[in-house]
This record gives sequence, C-alpha cells and structure tokens, in this order.
Amino acid sequence: MSELNELYQQTILDHNRNPRNYGVLEDADGEADGHNPLCGDKVRIYIALEGDTIRSARFEGVGCAISTASASLMTEALEGKTLDEAEELFAGFQELVTTGQDAMDAIESLGKLAVFAGVRAYPMRVKCATLAWHTFKAALNQETATVTTE
Ligand code: FES
Repeated sequence: MSELNELYQQTILDHNRNPRNYGVLEDADGEADGHNPLCGDKVRIYIALEGDTIRSARFEGVGCAISTASASLMTEALEGKTLDEAEELFAGFQELVTTGQDAMDAIESLGKLAVFAGVRAYPMRVKCATLAWHTFKAALNQETATVTTE
C-alpha cells in the first residue's frame, strides 16, 4: 500500500472512531434524514446558515466506517463555505468517488475529502461515501422525505 493510501485509510479510521461534529444542532435551519436501504444505515444532517454561508453542520446516525467518516469530514469541510462553494465541493466529491481525479488535483480542490479517492473501485462503497452528501442537499432544500441511496 502506498504511503498516501495508508494516510488516507488512517484518516478514515480516525474520523470513524472519533467523528467530528456529531450530535444534534439545536438551532438548525435545515435537517434531513438519509438511508441506505441495502444495509440499513441511517444518517441525519443538520445545517445552520448565516446569510448564504454555512455556519455549522452536524450529523447523527449509525453507519459503516466509510459513511461515518464521510459525514464527519463533510461537516468539517462545509463549515464556513458559501452555498455555491458547497455545491462545488459536492460536485468535486461526486467526481472523485465515481470517475476519479488526479491525486494532486483532488487534494488541491477537495482538501481532506481526497481521502475517499479509493472508494471509486467499489461501487457499493460509493453509496456509503455519498449518503451524507445527498442528505446534506436535502437538508438545504428542506426536503422532508428520507433520502435513499437507491
Ligand atoms: Fe451502510 Fe456503508 S455499509 S452506508
């Protein structure tokens, strides 16, 4: 395993063991539930806005290591971003886990989110990695129906 892949795996394990921004966000402007029916894993995403900037993002849920780490890293990445920047990040993340990107480009545009680069080789894992992101979009759009990966 290359040093970069090993570092990526360590980061995912760390965010799974010690998820950042875990818990309810009391003054949320939007929240939504996401569900992966293939495994039963669930996530709830909360966001609070200040104008068009994401002031805070938090999550709760029970999921696999990839989905938990993805939600944790996503909430970290979203804080302080404008809604347009968040859209760009989501698009970049989708590209990373589906079609792939050059490793250096991914680090430059996605920062720590680049740790999910290896996921694209495993289609089931792509759903784990994107569950939180689809749920974030629903929270932003105030959708009340549960988002599913299917
Ligand atoms: Fe359920 Fe990953 S196995 S979201």
